Amino acid sequence: MRFLSLSTLLLSLVTLASSQDTSLAAVRRAFNTANIPADAAITFDPSILFELAFPQTSGPPVEVHAGIQLPRNATAGPPTFSVRDTVVSPRQSFVVAAVDLDAPTPQNPTSAQIRHFLGGDFHPRAAVTLRTQTLANATAAISEFRQPTPPAGSDPHRYVFLLFNQPRGFGRQTLVNSTTPIQNFNISQFASEIGLGNPIGGTFILVGPDPTA
Ligand SMILES: *[C@@H]1O[C@H](CO)[C@@H](O)[C@H](O)[C@H]1NC(C)=O
Ligand SMILES: *[C@@H]1O[C@H](CO)[C@@H](O)[C@H](O)[C@H]1NC(C)=O
Ligand SMILES: *[C@@H]1O[C@H](CO)[C@@H](O)[C@H](O)[C@H]1NC(C)=O
Ligand SMILES: *[C@@H]1O[C@H](CO)[C@@H](O)[C@H](O)[C@H]1NC(C)=O
Repeated sequence: MRFLSLSTLLLSLVTLASSQDTSLAAVRRAFNTANIPADAAITFDPSILFELAFPQTSGPPVEVHAGIQLPRNATAGPPTFSVRDTVVSPRQSFVVAAVDLDAPTPQNPTSAQIRHFLGGDFHPRAAVTLRTQTLANATAAISEFRQPTPPAGSDPHRYVFLLFNQPRGFGRQTLVNSTTPIQNFNISQFASEIGLGNPIGGTFILVGPDPTA
């Protein structure tokens, strides 16, 4: 089932006003409702609330909860990542990956997945609030963030951001580098080949084409 259900879209509209996720169960439910575990071939049973925010040129960052639909022009990024309600040691390292499951369209995703971000060596930097720790990278991304750009006429795409524990030796992986084509990436296959295990956290956004596209 590749189509976004009406309930997913309604859910995202109803919850548009709220900010970040505060419940792992709600995140898991949103992933299941949007059929992400099946379409991405992942097991999604998060143990950490992974938060995503998009800085804006003016005004506060747009905070994301799983399944929110954002106007494309709010997603220029690069986004910031944090973890919530979990105290993480500064020694712990994470990998973050972001993929578009619906390129070029949800009905016919022949070039999915598109890799929109891949980076390692994320460590908790500072407690922003008592509840939230920002994740800061200690090395450059393997695949820099690319803004969602669904083609004109497409339904909104699902852009899925996943947090993994970083295995030893990740910095020496050679499967993907900055020149590896971003099309037809497979996060499930990459995770299994690199030994990332299942994602420990995640979130996703829906983005449709620019109204001017
Ligand atoms: C995005 O575009 C809408 C109109 O399509 C506009 O109202 C809004 O201000 C724009 N936001 C940004 C961040 O440019
Ligand atoms: C963090 O990532 C950004 C984007 O990839 C990069 O420009 C920056 O140099 C990285 N930070 C460090 C400390 O390597
Ligand atoms: C990226 O990987 C390809 C294929 O493994 C390799 O040929 C190329 O030299 C690598 N590029 C860089 C910049 O490391
Ligand atoms: C991605 O790889 C998994 C195996 O890890 C496989 O089950 C799945 O079909 C692949 N997805 C695509 C789109 O090729």
